[in-house]
Amino acid sequence: MDSPILVTGGTGTLGRVVVARLIAEGVPVRVMSRRARRADDDRPCEWAVGDLADGTGLDAALADAGVVVHCATDSRNDVAATRRLVEAARRSGRPHLVFISIVGIDRVPLPYYRSKLEAERLVEESGLPWTILRTTQFHDLVMKMTTVQRRLPVVLTARGVRMQPIEVAEVADRLVELAREAPAGRVPDMAGPEVRDVRDLMEATLRAAGLRRRVVPVGLPGKIFRSLRAGADLAPDRAVGTRTFDEYLAARTRAGQW
Ligand SMILES: NC(=O)c1ccc[n+]([C@@H]2O[C@H](COP(=O)([O-])OP(=O)(O)OC[C@H]3O[C@@H](n4cnc5c(N)ncnc54)[C@H](OP(=O)(O)O)[C@@H]3O)[C@@H](O)[C@H]2O)c1
Repeated sequence: MDSPILVTGGTGTLGRVVVARLIAEGVPVRVMSRRARRADDDRPCEWAVGDLADGTGLDAALADAGVVVHCATDSRNDVAATRRLVEAARRSGRPHLVFISIVGIDRVPLPYYRSKLEAERLVEESGLPWTILRTTQFHDLVMKMTTVQRRLPVVLTARGVRMQPIEVAEVADRLVELAREAPAGRVPDMAGPEVRDVRDLMEATLRAAGLRRRVVPVGLPGKIFRSLRAGADLAPDRAVGTRTFDEYLAARTRAGQW
């Protein structure tokens, strides 16, 4: 039996699709989560309870894992979480660490992006074999930027900001491919097929969700929004994703997911 691929954050938006892909390919997979496995989860995979905030369960989760796909994110302290994972991996069999990161983290001074950059550095300097893939925002996140405001009379957005959202399943496919190949270091970024104004993406979401609201663009000051208006979150030369945001919205509508 091959050693399992450990997926941290295997219950999250990206991680659960990575897990599903690995299972579909017949690869031994171990999900890590802070929560116990649901009683009705009968998928052919292992489960490890582990918490990157305090390190509990990490050694058991990493035992005999040949590859770790690190999809967990703890927005309050991602750097410490990644450091704990790296240390636990060094104590175990020195697995190949595959890390998912974000396009533009070195150009947009958001606190979360700074922590992702620091986490990337920890991976690069870990002494472990590693691969890092940066992508743009997933369609799910872009959709939620609007639906989270559904109780407000208007939907607010930052004026002049564009995004290039990508389908999470396409990111999961690439991560699975990378996890099954030799460590590759920093691989080319992956971005969605279209660059669109956030206002336009929000109006499309409202239409698809059947919500009658006006999108109000607000001019926001500061370095963060200046960098976003300059397109620092985009990778137009890496528009390799194929599923558009409108196709994603249409699929949600067909599935009655509003
Ligand atoms: N969302 C995007 O648009 C986007 C774009 C590019 C890159 N990324 C990156 O992709 C990764 C996954 O994002 P996502 O949107 O899938 O995240 P998500 O849906 O918020 O999932 C986060 C996962 O992290 C786990 N987690 C949180 N705190 C933890 C802790 N202390 N210990 C162990 N596990 C913990 C959660 O598992 P439990 O709750 O089960 O413990 C959950 O499965 C992140 O690194 C993110 O930066 C995201």
